This record gives sequence, structure tokens and C-alpha cells, in this order.
Amino acid sequence: MSSWRVKTIEQLVAEKEEGPHRLKKILGLFDLTALGLGAIIGMGVFVLTGVAAARYAGPGVILSFVVAGLASGLAALVYAEMAAAIPVAGSAYTFAYATLGELIAWLVGWNLVLEYVVAAGAVSIGWSGYLVSLLQSAGLNLPAIYTSSPFAGGLINLPALFITGLVTALIISGTQHSAAANKLIVALKVSVLLLFIFLGIRHVNPANWQPFLPFGVTGIFHGAAIIFFAFIGFDAVSTAAEEVKNPRRNLPLGIFASLFLATLLYIGVTAVLTGMVKYSLLDTASPMALALFSAGLRWGSALTAVGALAGLTSVMLVNMYGQSRIFFAMSRDGLLPPIFSWVHPRLRTPVVDSLFIGSVVAVIGALLPIGIVAELANIGTLTAFMAVSLGVLILRRTRPDLPRPFKVPASPWLPLASFGAALYLAANLPALTWLRFAVWIVLGLVIYFVYGYRHSRLREKSPGYPVHPFPAPARKPAERRANRSRGDEDRG
Ligand code: ALA
Repeated sequence: MSSWRVKTIEQLVAEKEEGPHRLKKILGLFDLTALGLGAIIGMGVFVLTGVAAARYAGPGVILSFVVAGLASGLAALVYAEMAAAIPVAGSAYTFAYATLGELIAWLVGWNLVLEYVVAAGAVSIGWSGYLVSLLQSAGLNLPAIYTSSPFAGGLINLPALFITGLVTALIISGTQHSAAANKLIVALKVSVLLLFIFLGIRHVNPANWQPFLPFGVTGIFHGAAIIFFAFIGFDAVSTAAEEVKNPRRNLPLGIFASLFLATLLYIGVTAVLTGMVKYSLLDTASPMALALFSAGLRWGSALTAVGALAGLTSVMLVNMYGQSRIFFAMSRDGLLPPIFSWVHPRLRTPVVDSLFIGSVVAVIGALLPIGIVAELANIGTLTAFMAVSLGVLILRRTRPDLPRPFKVPASPWLPLASFGAALYLAANLPALTWLRFAVWIVLGLVIYFVYGYRHSRLREKSPGYPVHPFPAPARKPAERRANRSRGDEDRG
């Protein structure tokens, strides 16, 4: 079946160099690290930390961050190897296309929609919530029907729509603008997290860390499955591959630097937070603001809200940017209509993708409840991690010759550990999330077989030629010649 056809790396790189759809190379290591931090630090730490501590892990949520950070670190290793070896837009989608075949690649891309678009929708709701509470603390009350979705008893969530529109406009206006705005915001939110640690550390009461594991050891892992949301985004660095200077060096470094810095900040913030306030009191949407407020630091509390607003804005910015580049790559491959790979001649950005994504995020922000959406984003991301982990192992077998500026050490054990860790975290998510995920996959399969399967560029190039995705054992020369005469050149 030709839905197993794979792309060769040479094909991927040639398409990006020669094709009419080219993006500008302007991002350096600093921009990339900022891009990563822009995507990573957001709702996870500013909103979900408190809920995870109060309901799942207690002060042990510090360890949940360590566990989720380790799982993400393993995934970062495999992403770094892939991104450096295949520096082409599209992240996990592109990696899967080169290793696991078209159908899996499509499904991975489809799951990335959960990660980027659905998460951006959730974050826009969080943004709206923070804005409302900040205005409230300044004595300004926005009418509730205009600040919440029909699910939450309102009419429309206007602040969520506002921020989505603003972010969409920024992305359309060009990568330089997005990168500059992102750096500014990242500086602000990192400063706010550092300030929180600095202010809060003097108010830590070690008694609050007792009992450390009120929900037992399993609580750590349930907490980790939820808090994993806080780590989503480092892979967004690899979606920008085609706009990066010296991608083979800068992509792996950018991924590691952003993930490492975020993890350090998270552990610091969580330790201080759970030391300041008893975990059971943290079941709130703005735990950091609450902690500073109860320590009598009202101005610090308001400042945290401003940092959270900035942080959530940059998460939306990078997620929506990442998704537009994935749609761009999918369309260039023929799996989505050609209009999605049209680059505006002056702005040099895929405008249609950005507008479409902005509209979908706006609808999610206006209509869906935040919890369901965040868990779906987690499961979508974890499955992408699994696919990339397997992809690294397959590519090592099928293309041992490929230059790999970065290699995951201790292969196959670390890629396998990355696969296992993602699977384990996904298994810790609620059964209902898995059910919703199954519906999503079925929908993706229908779209693929109705559109992508028939329009795939790869199919045009090698009509109907079935390519098995898994590594073939080394073939004898005679066999190889025979295959080549059947059009096997496409294969890596
Ligand atoms: N990691 C991102 C956040 O915490 C998605 O908001």
C-alpha cells in the first residue's frame, strides 16, 4: 500500500533548497533559544502547577517536574538528532515522513495540530482569565458574558478572541517581527519567574513541604502527566529549521538550551511555591499570584499576573507559528491543498496558514473548556515524541551514512527510553482523554484517505510504488539492482 512510502532525506533537502516555496534564513542560536522558551514557559507553570500540587502530587509536584523534565529531555535528544540531520520545516511530521512512511507522518502531523492549535486555544482561555483578574484587582470589572465561553455560562470570550487576533496579525507580518516580539516577552516572563523565586524564598516555611507525598508515589506520575503541558514546545524550535542560520549546529543547541533553562526555572518556582503555601490551598488558576498575595506582597502578585499574560502570549505566538510551518510542509507534500504552501511575495510568510490557524484557535478559545483541551494537547505531543524516538532508530538502520552533526548517545537504549517514557506518561492520562484521542485519529484517517492519499506529491513521483517503512536488512547487490530498475531511487 503506497501510504507507507517514505521520503528520502535528499528529496527533503532538495525540495527546500530548490522549490519555489522558500522561507528566509534569519534565526540564530539566541533567537532559537528564545523561540523555545517562548513556547515552553506558559500555562504549565503559571496555571497548572497549583492544580497538579493540590489534586495530584502535593509538594511532590517538584518531582513531577523532574519526571516530566526527564521524559522531555530524552525526547529532546531524539529531536536534536533528527533536526540536525534533517533541517527541514515540519518537525516530527517531516521526521516521520523520512522514516515511518506517509500515513504515519500524516497522523503525526495531525497530532501536532493537537499540540499546537488546541494548546494555543487553551492558552488563550488562560490569557483571558488572567486579564480579567488583573483588571479586577485594578477595580475594573468586565461583564462576565463577554469573558467566558457558553460552556462556562457566558456568551463569548472576547479577550481570548482579541489575543488570538493580535498574535495572528504578528505572525502574518513576518518572522522578524514575531522573533523580536517573542524575545521581549521571553525576557519579561523569565524575569517574573526569577523575581517570584527571589521574593518568595524568604517566605518559605519548610513545614509546608510535609507531608511531601500526600498522594503517594503514584501521585508524582499523575502530576507529571498533567504538568507535562509545561514542557510542550521545545520541539517548536525544530519547526523553524528552514529559517535558521547554521541549522545543524544551532538546532540541537537551541533545543537543549531552552529545555534546560525552563526546567531549572520550573523546579525553583515549584519548590518556592509549595514552601510558601500549603499544597491543599493551591487549587487555583493563579497559584503564584496567590502565594505572593498571601505573603503580603500585593504588587508582586500583580506583577506575576502581567508576567503570566506575557508568557501566555508568547506560547500562543510560537505554537501558532509552529503550526503554520507544519501545514506549510504538509501542503508542499500534497497532503493538504496547495493554498497552504503559498508564500506571500512581500511578507515571505505562509499567510493563508496563519489566517486559518488563527480562526481555529479563536473558535476553540471561544467554545471549549480548558482542562479537556490541555490533556488532548499532552496526548498529541506524547505520540509525536514516540514516533520521533522510533524514527531515530529506523533512520540509523536505513541511512547509516547520513551526516549526523548530533547523535543520541547510548542508542538504541536512550531512544527506546524516550519512547517508553512518553508512553508511560500518556498511560497516566485519564481514559476519557484516550477516547477523545481515538476519535481524533479516526477523523485524521478519513481526511488522509479522502484527500492526502490521492494528492500526495510522493505518489506522483513514484505512482503506486509500495515502500515498506521499516528498515530492510542489507540487500545483496543483485537484488538492489533489480529493485532500482523498479524505481527504488526514491528510497533512502
Ligand atoms: N508549555 C506551554 C505552556 O506551559 C504549552 O503553556
